[in-house]
Amino acid sequence: MAESRPRVWVSQPLFDDLVDQLRAHCDVETTQAVTTYTAEQLAQKLAPLDGALITLNERIGATEIAQAPRLRALANVAVGYNNLDIAALSAAGVAVTNTPDVLTETTADLGFALLMATARRITEAEAFLREGRWGKWSFTTLLGADLHGSTLGILGMGRIGQAIARRARGFGMRVLYHNRSRLAAEVETDVGASYVPFDDLLRSSDHLVLVLPYTPASHHLIGAAALAKMKSTATLVNIARGGIVDELALADALAHGRLAGAGLDVFEGEPTVRPELLALKNVVLTPHIGSASLATRRAMVQLAVHNLLAALGFGPDAGNPPSLINADARKAAKTGGAIVGATTITATKR
Ligand code: DGY
Repeated sequence: MAESRPRVWVSQPLFDDLVDQLRAHCDVETTQAVTTYTAEQLAQKLAPLDGALITLNERIGATEIAQAPRLRALANVAVGYNNLDIAALSAAGVAVTNTPDVLTETTADLGFALLMATARRITEAEAFLREGRWGKWSFTTLLGADLHGSTLGILGMGRIGQAIARRARGFGMRVLYHNRSRLAAEVETDVGASYVPFDDLLRSSDHLVLVLPYTPASHHLIGAAALAKMKSTATLVNIARGGIVDELALADALAHGRLAGAGLDVFEGEPTVRPELLALKNVVLTPHIGSASLATRRAMVQLAVHNLLAALGFGPDAGNPPSLINADARKAAKTGGAIVGATTITATKR
């Protein structure tokens, strides 16, 4: 009897020409509209599947896969994977992949754009002009903070943090970083960054960029206590995940002059943004567009397609998806044709 083709689902509209590559080996269901799924809807969708291409909108854990006995692979089209319960997926033998590397430089670009826009009050200045408030040129209007010659703090020194550090060199900034583990000396030299303890990073930074993974340990890491240690003239940029910052504490610090400005691409309740943040002038807000260049978003989908096919046992990397997060997912090996070896991974590096 002929083997049946794996069934896969693509949870959001991506790039059809790339997604179509899945059709060489799999029966594919795509989605035409951007959709928010309830846990029940996800469980229903996943139930008959062997694999899926998903985005950070889909939160998947034990409940969502409980009725999906065939599920072997989830390819997350993002580098971050806090939307997934990796322990539950591993226990159920579901291989999970992400999309590192291909988005590093694009996300670092956006981090720098937010940093510059926040420090130099670009969006506030544009609103001032558009709203017809530029009555007279004044020497002291919209004074901002310099990047050149300042101290940049980077919290989380994975791939994206290092790419930001390299950009900072061009601006003549002193770069400090904090990370769970210190970089090798030659990497520190290469990116031009010095390791400091967390509190020193908060106290010394003129600008602080958050690029660390969102985990229970980093939830609200930047709260009232951390903000109180920062300079009142400092700016904060978050391109990681919203939940790392206690947004109410941040809004309070910004509203009362205890922090000069913030550039935020991510929000705890996104796509909802707190009114306390929306009300502030000294915040630059973007809708989670860190990796959103056309070339990079296409590269992410291409990598995810490649990962999914490999996890299901197809293509040049059959059985060894290049960006496997959970090498301990074992069920795939049992069902055959999928993960066979344990790929070494750097799961928490962004
Ligand atoms: C990621 O990859 O984690 C980004 O936040 C989504 O583009």
